[in-house]
Amino acid sequence: MKCMNEVGITSKQWVIIFVVGGLLSMLQMASAQTLIDSNEEQVQRGEYLALAGNCMGCHTTRGGEPYAGGRRLNTPFGQFVTPNITPDNETGIGRWNEEDFWQALHFGKSRDGRYLYPAFPYTEYTKVTRQDADAIFAYLRSLPSVVQTNPSHTIRSPYDNQSLLFLWRTWYFKEGVYQPDQSKSDEWNRGNYLVQGLGHCNACHTSRNVWGASQNDKLTGGEIMGTHWYAPSLISPVEAGVGEWSIDDIVELLSTGINSHAVTSGPMATIVRQSLQHLSDYDMRSIAVYLQSLGDKRDSDEAPRKIPKMPEHVRQYVALGEKVYEQHCQDCHGESGQGVPKIYPPLAGNRSVTMSSPLNTIRSVLYGGYPPATSGNPRPHGMPPYQHFIQDTEIAWVVSYIRNAWGNLGSLVSPEDVDRSRGN
Ligand code: HEC
Ligand code: HEC
Ligand code: HEC
Repeated sequence: MKCMNEVGITSKQWVIIFVVGGLLSMLQMASAQTLIDSNEEQVQRGEYLALAGNCMGCHTTRGGEPYAGGRRLNTPFGQFVTPNITPDNETGIGRWNEEDFWQALHFGKSRDGRYLYPAFPYTEYTKVTRQDADAIFAYLRSLPSVVQTNPSHTIRSPYDNQSLLFLWRTWYFKEGVYQPDQSKSDEWNRGNYLVQGLGHCNACHTSRNVWGASQNDKLTGGEIMGTHWYAPSLISPVEAGVGEWSIDDIVELLSTGINSHAVTSGPMATIVRQSLQHLSDYDMRSIAVYLQSLGDKRDSDEAPRKIPKMPEHVRQYVALGEKVYEQHCQDCHGESGQGVPKIYPPLAGNRSVTMSSPLNTIRSVLYGGYPPATSGNPRPHGMPPYQHFIQDTEIAWVVSYIRNAWGNLGSLVSPEDVDRSRGN
């Protein structure tokens, strides 16, 4: 006690020291707890954001370990193979830190300084905020490490050249986090952020030049590179613009995969199943508010559309399709193409059927398909594939018929168009 008295601490002071010390250590424990909580919260937020970006969809092979990569993406420039983004040190991104990850998502640069190919849609993800990127990284860090080495890309010369990629970026890539538009509502801004950023809708819904660069971020539609699918314009009222739809109808289509006017198929069904159906009500409504604001409206003063009288040879051609329709299609899609709401899509008045590109319609008939299975539509009814039942000529007839029956108006389709629509 002597030495203590030497520093001059009285017993009263000791009591104070104990109390304050105790309080401090309690505070310390509490703040450690908040750290754990906030980390858990961040991981959960990251998991949600990764769904909004459909990261797993590309970074997983069918039946493979989630996020371990290996999925092949075909493009006119060659085949890309997605990398392993689990936290394995050797084969994944285990040695990466937040800054490395930011460089990849925001700038399209790998940890070793290599420029990444825009088959990884960082051209869209660059709009994502740093906070959201950090949360996605925290989530990826929380995943089990998977040791998996994936094959390398097989890119055709000269596209495998890094200096060419550097030039490409100078011309076509603009990095920058989304800047909210103060004149618009919070919902609209959230929708814009999700559609143009993590949702990377423009990765498909755009036309591209010969260098594979999207012409703009205006969602004006185009054929998806390396696949035979047409991603329709999200602006045009004669394609998939939703300017005239209610918010509820848009939300229903994008979160369940089907509504009474339309159904999602092919790559869009995959996006709904893997990504959009998992988003919160607020985020889905925000996406709908933004999409609705983009969609052009038809002029209400416009005179009702007149269907021109078909020339005789066209009438005969289309009549051949009517027979095929009665025999093979009518049971589900109905005598007057009316369908059955939310089970079999209507073909009458269906813009997917009448839009100028007949590609998706031909593919539906060749390969059939299912709307996505979602919590809002868990057991979707499917459509059988017809490529082995009927000839290309009959497919051409029936597609020409459904594009011109019941008040529909679309160009005729030839057997050559049918054959050209085959493949991935
Ligand atoms: C359309 C498919 C696609 C989607 C969706 C996608 N990626 Fe990728 N990602 C790729 C491809 C392809 C590469 C390889 C690019 C290269 O090697 O040049 C890649 C590369 C990466 C890399 C760099 C890895 C490395 O070793 O350099 C990271 C990190 C990454 N992706 C994370 C993500 C995250 C996070 C998401 C979701 C927000 C995501 N990816 C969504 C296709 C995709
Ligand atoms: C991987 C490519 C891809 C991505 C990414 C994608 N789409 Fe699509 N989308 C398509 C294709 C292909 C179609 C045409 C098939 C169909 O009608 O379902 C389509 C159709 C649509 C339709 C019309 C559906 C109908 O039948 O009326 C809407 C609306 C739509 N997409 C919205 C979006 C939104 C919003 C996003 C981003 C959150 C998005 N898409 C992302 C490929 C894609
Ligand atoms: C057993 C019921 C059934 C039969 C028979 C059937 N369909 Fe379908 N059809 C469906 C279903 C279900 C879908 C939605 C599929 C999807 O989302 O991929 C569909 C989708 C379509 C679509 C795409 C519509 C859109 O909005 O994207 C077209 C076009 C189509 N069918 C035409 C036909 C034609 C032509 C025939 C006859 C040759 C036919 N169907 C026979 C059930 C059927």
